[in-house]
Amino acid sequence: MNDSRSPRPSMLLVGASRGIGLAMAEELLERGWDLVGTVRGGGRTGLHELAGSYPERLAIEPVDVTRAEQLSALRERLAQRRFDALFVNAGTANPRPDDTMADIETEEFVRVMVTNALGPMRCLEMLDGLVRPAGLVGVMSSGQGSVANNQQGGRELYRASKAALNMLMRSYAARQTGSGRSLLVLAPGWIRTELGGPDATFTLEQTIPDIVDCLLAKRERPGLEYLDRNGKVVPW
Ligand SMILES: NC(=O)c1ccc[n+]([C@@H]2O[C@H](COP(=O)([O-])OP(=O)(O)OC[C@H]3O[C@@H](n4cnc5c(N)ncnc54)[C@H](OP(=O)(O)O)[C@@H]3O)[C@@H](O)[C@H]2O)c1
Repeated sequence: MNDSRSPRPSMLLVGASRGIGLAMAEELLERGWDLVGTVRGGGRTGLHELAGSYPERLAIEPVDVTRAEQLSALRERLAQRRFDALFVNAGTANPRPDDTMADIETEEFVRVMVTNALGPMRCLEMLDGLVRPAGLVGVMSSGQGSVANNQQGGRELYRASKAALNMLMRSYAARQTGSGRSLLVLAPGWIRTELGGPDATFTLEQTIPDIVDCLLAKRERPGLEYLDRNGKVVPW
């Protein structure tokens, strides 16, 4: 399996069971990467189907990003591995996107914030030691996380959770100026998945190659950037 002796580049991709994460996994495998992809729970997912086609190059690990003890256990299991990239794609949205803070239950606020901001950043803080010194560390944010571009409101809890993620990434980056790491906050565009919904502008087929291009190109540029999938800077 994909270990440190493999000549291929390797990525730990968190949240690869379906949607954008699963499609990224497939694209990366096609481009010759070795992958450890994570799923939640014990059920069979699209990633398990994909593993059938890449038995030597795709390993599946369970982790829920909201559970610190599961992240610790994952770090232990992977302690002997070194990756060229760690990317946290996992994310969620509240089912009624137009709810304001007057409508949103406190528990729902906590669930979305913990899944989209605390969870991904805990992944980075706890797992970045598995990444080579000049490797890439990134998170899946959203254009909705841009404070500067928010002229319309709407999707307010989701926006706030991704803005919180962006801010945490800036703090993380500020603590490691001068390191060789490439740090990426990615805004993939509005894509038809369970989260994006049926009215989204783009399909996975239209966007995944650009998402993966953007991520791989970022490896050449150390430091933090907030980019859309075409590599264009998004204002914070
Ligand atoms: N689709 C869009 O238009 C769009 C736009 C901008 C940003 N994004 C971001 O892109 C990422 C992927 O979105 P998507 O559209 O592919 O959504 P999706 O189809 O709903 O998939 C979400 C993924 O995140 C995983 N996940 C959710 N909560 C998790 C947790 N607590 N621990 C571990 N994994 C968890 C899910 O795993 P399970 O299968 O176990 O639930 C699934 O793999 C998210 O961060 C999202 O915010 C999406």
